[in-house]
Amino acid sequence: MNMVPIKFEKIVCSGKTLGKTSGKVVFCYGVLPEEIAEVNFVKEKKDYIEAELVNIIEPSIFRVSPKETHYLNCSPWQTISYGYQVDLKKNITEDAIFQTVKKDLRLDSFYKASDIYGYRTKIEYKLDDSGPNLKYAFYKRGTKNLVPLEYGCALIDDMVNRLAYKFLDFINSLNIDRKALDRIVFRKGVNGEVLGIIYLNYKIDKIILPKIENLVGLVVIDGNNKKIYGQEFIEQDLLGTQIKYGYDCFFQNNIELFSKVLEIIRSEINNTGKIVDLYSGVGSIGFSLRDLASKIILIESFRNSHLYSIKNIEALGAKNVMSILSNSEKVGEDILKEADVVILDPPRAGAEKILLEKILRVLPKKIIYLSCNPITLGRDMSYLLQKYDLKKIYGFDFYPNTVHTETLAIFER
Ligand SMILES: C[S@@+](CC[C@H](N)C(=O)[O-])C[C@H]1O[C@@H](n2cnc3c(N)ncnc32)[C@H](O)[C@@H]1O
Repeated sequence: MNMVPIKFEKIVCSGKTLGKTSGKVVFCYGVLPEEIAEVNFVKEKKDYIEAELVNIIEPSIFRVSPKETHYLNCSPWQTISYGYQVDLKKNITEDAIFQTVKKDLRLDSFYKASDIYGYRTKIEYKLDDSGPNLKYAFYKRGTKNLVPLEYGCALIDDMVNRLAYKFLDFINSLNIDRKALDRIVFRKGVNGEVLGIIYLNYKIDKIILPKIENLVGLVVIDGNNKKIYGQEFIEQDLLGTQIKYGYDCFFQNNIELFSKVLEIIRSEINNTGKIVDLYSGVGSIGFSLRDLASKIILIESFRNSHLYSIKNIEALGAKNVMSILSNSEKVGEDILKEADVVILDPPRAGAEKILLEKILRVLPKKIIYLSCNPITLGRDMSYLLQKYDLKKIYGFDFYPNTVHTETLAIFER
């Protein structure tokens, strides 16, 4: 093990900070730009070194005390003052897009979060069975070693953590084979309702839904089998629309800022004909536009999200919305044809080129692209800019205390 003091320069897209020693690049979490820190080299590659922070020798003026001792494993930016986090995120987003688009592009606005803790709707706790009682734990970042938690995680509402510990007391009171329990996910919905999902390494029968205030359902999963106690879905309110989603469906984590995204998208649409909402999930974006278009088509590839989008169509009586189970890139050109607006909200990998080619053939008036990865947004944007102008681009801090940013880009012909 090699312990050396290094001066660090800047935070890169991965969230690690870059420094240099003897001409070699070093990446480390938990260090701020301009800081001198003592680090351990944990992996030496040909071109770079991965290091672990040992001690800050010269702290940055932007350094603050982290709220939690486990912060490096869930939200490594807890040591950065929030104002500086926002500046860093704006720069990271603009730089990442610039790398491919090669235009000096600036965000029109960057929306901060009003709560930098407690914003998540979902948390996943691993279970540590090394002591007499099970404990919640996270993986130590970059490893499969468990770090037991003192008290849950501050990224989710304290009400969920209190519930989670009552649930853990219940599990610890059962006479069960503890090694069977792998992890527990909690998902928070409207009015503080919480759904629990337990993933087992192998089947055990003794777990049932305990009586805990706000816990409305429990899904117990071993391999491909699941048992449901109470309900297996949760609901969320988005701009006054109640959206249901299943225990394993994607759902946005930061409701405050996602609602802001929806307001901006709504302001871009007035009395439109057809909207195609690609990568639609359970329909969160599409349903919020249902009073502004004559027809909305949701395209989603994950079966349970598609099934919940159909339940949402029924529950909302949304007769002008239809949902198709399909990969977005496989959707026929006839579906995209004559769309006034095409919405894309892909996973981190971005959209497939074949889909962008189809969109550039049918040429909708407007393209609205919500992205959780500015690198793939830049790549896809450079393609769309062949035939579209970028009208507006906004950043959102969906994930305070982490490097992640959300970007909304509006393109017009
Ligand atoms: C970032 S989420 C956005 C979901 C939705 N727009 C929302 O705001 O809740 C991306 C969604 O795309 C789905 N997905 C992933 N790959 C896909 C593909 N090739 N075609 C269609 N949907 C896909 C995922 O299951 C997920 O629901």
